[in-house]
Amino acid sequence: MIELRVLTPDDWRCWRELRLAALADAPYAFNSRLADWQGGGDREERWRAPLSIPGSYNLVALLDGEPAGMARGVPGAETGTAHLHSLWVSGRARGHGVADRLMRAVERWAAGSGAGRLYLGVLPGNGHAIALYRRHGFEETAAGAPGRTLPDGRREVTMSKPLASQR
Ligand SMILES: CC(C)(COP(=O)(O)OP(=O)(O)OC[C@H]1O[C@@H](n2cnc3c(N)ncnc32)[C@H](O)[C@@H]1OP(=O)(O)O)[C@@H](O)C(=O)NCCC(=O)NCCS
Repeated sequence: MIELRVLTPDDWRCWRELRLAALADAPYAFNSRLADWQGGGDREERWRAPLSIPGSYNLVALLDGEPAGMARGVPGAETGTAHLHSLWVSGRARGHGVADRLMRAVERWAAGSGAGRLYLGVLPGNGHAIALYRRHGFEETAAGAPGRTLPDGRREVTMSKPLASQR
């Protein structure tokens, strides 16, 4: 059974545990590096910061009661937009529809908060994620949010999906 939990800043320990697992498991997928969140970078206020962004929606998924994945939605800088970030599903939980549940929840949150378009960034070569996003109706987008270039030269592809805004 898949359950979703919405986290508050006080749940930073839960977010930390899953995010460290995600960065260790899939360095090819994320802009952040594990090393940046270890040692001196592993501080409570840093973990609380993303969970404290006003209007953000921070989720963990449990599969049969065990933490199995995470994702977050953040209001975009441009009015009427939102961004999906930090999607990760643990290796043992893949192929059970956990990512589908997380994505649907973030889409519902975004539409409910008045967004008409949901954006995400994905690194080229991350075929499983790109296939998932296409299945959910995301397409590569040139306008609106140019992909970031990472310090190591990798350039994010921006994808987006129109939403039926509920405001
Ligand atoms: C992308 C991701 C969230 C998809 O998770 P998921 O819940 O398994 O997603 P899907 O339902 O789309 O998986 C479809 C199939 O691909 C398989 N699959 C998914 N990701 C896989 C991976 N990284 N490696 C091997 N197989 C994978 C699943 O097991 C499933 O197989 P099945 O159809 O035989 O059951 C997950 O692969 C992941 O966390 N990857 C690392 C982090 C990442 O890339 N995040 C996105 C950043 S933009």
